[in-house]
Amino acid sequence: MSKKPPTPRTNLHPQTIAAQGLGWIDAETGAVVPPIHNATTYARDESYELIGGRSYARPNNPTLEQPEQLLAALEGGEAAALFASGMASAVTLFQSLSPGDHVVAPRSMYWGLRDWLTGEGRRWGLAVDLVDSTVLEAVASAVQPGRTKLIWIETPANPDWGVTDIAGVAAIARRAGAKLAVDNTVPTPVLTRPLALGADFVMHSATKYLNGHTDLLAGALVAARQDDHWQRILALRGSGGAVLGAFEAWLLLRGMRTLFVRVRHASVSALEIARHFDGHPKLVEVLYPGLERHPGHAVAARQMEGGFGAMLSLRVKGGAEGALKVAARCHLWVRATSLGGTESLLEHRASVEGPSSPVQKDLLRLSVGLEEPGDLIEDLEQALQAL
Ligand SMILES: Cc1ncc(COP(=O)(O)O)c(C=O)c1O
Repeated sequence: MSKKPPTPRTNLHPQTIAAQGLGWIDAETGAVVPPIHNATTYARDESYELIGGRSYARPNNPTLEQPEQLLAALEGGEAAALFASGMASAVTLFQSLSPGDHVVAPRSMYWGLRDWLTGEGRRWGLAVDLVDSTVLEAVASAVQPGRTKLIWIETPANPDWGVTDIAGVAAIARRAGAKLAVDNTVPTPVLTRPLALGADFVMHSATKYLNGHTDLLAGALVAARQDDHWQRILALRGSGGAVLGAFEAWLLLRGMRTLFVRVRHASVSALEIARHFDGHPKLVEVLYPGLERHPGHAVAARQMEGGFGAMLSLRVKGGAEGALKVAARCHLWVRATSLGGTESLLEHRASVEGPSSPVQKDLLRLSVGLEEPGDLIEDLEQALQAL
């Protein structure tokens, strides 16, 4: 049986807490890496009491506890819960609301979730308004005090990396009696801690940076408070079954140990790449909040610490044809969806999202990985020469 993790010392830097996986040592063996508990059921003693307090793996698998407690510590929340995917975690949060509740979400956000909200979410009875969340007045005027139960934001947001003022939206939510949830997948707690800025929930596609190796699907919710709403979310996960598997949870903990070095390295590279291509004659625009000309730069500089993230987009001259030509000519950048892995990815979002996509047809989204940035710049330069 594993020892309880020591309460993280407040004077320890989050990177130290992550690198040591909360300092958890296996009580029985002294192992510094935890075992994987594959058991789906737990035994009872002769008086029919549960021996270890657990009954069944769907609501309660011990392998999930260490990565959950680590993520809660990094985000500064009271608790975290792991889900089978980022979508499963987000959908569970929306399903914890009641039919008739009003939700405000951004127009610019992960498209799969926007689709779910405006399709299944509405069918399920949620009233959903999409706004430009980078404009605080737009959020404030969409909110219906008493009826709005949740404001959802993503910052910097897919795929134009628009920046939303988290503290500003938190104040609007508080005044209206609504809760604020922030998709923190892209900045991660390394660069942004939404709970400290007034958010109630943080969501992650842990498939991305938290794991960091493009080899598992996972999601997470982190709560500022372990209140009744949080208990309902845990109950929905346990009964609905959108829980993470034990092996994935174990892999995720392994990935999170290196989160800080990966995110910081990739953010430095992304800034170098953005600065290199800013003003390039073959490009319409470079979209990256680390560039001073980006409309969200001032807010990003205030609420992000230590970097602007490793995601950027290039708008290529020549429309969709130009963008697809550049993508085709890249040798090092992998043409694939997703983000947050060690390998750099390049994606033509409009092709992936289909004809209804609001994304500009000339836009290539880049997820900067851990390669030498000079190699990545050289590969894009030679591809741009095709235009
Ligand atoms: C910002 C963001 N949020 C949520 C998701 C959904 O996560 P998952 O694919 O793990 O379900 C994604 C996936 O691309 C994403 O990029």
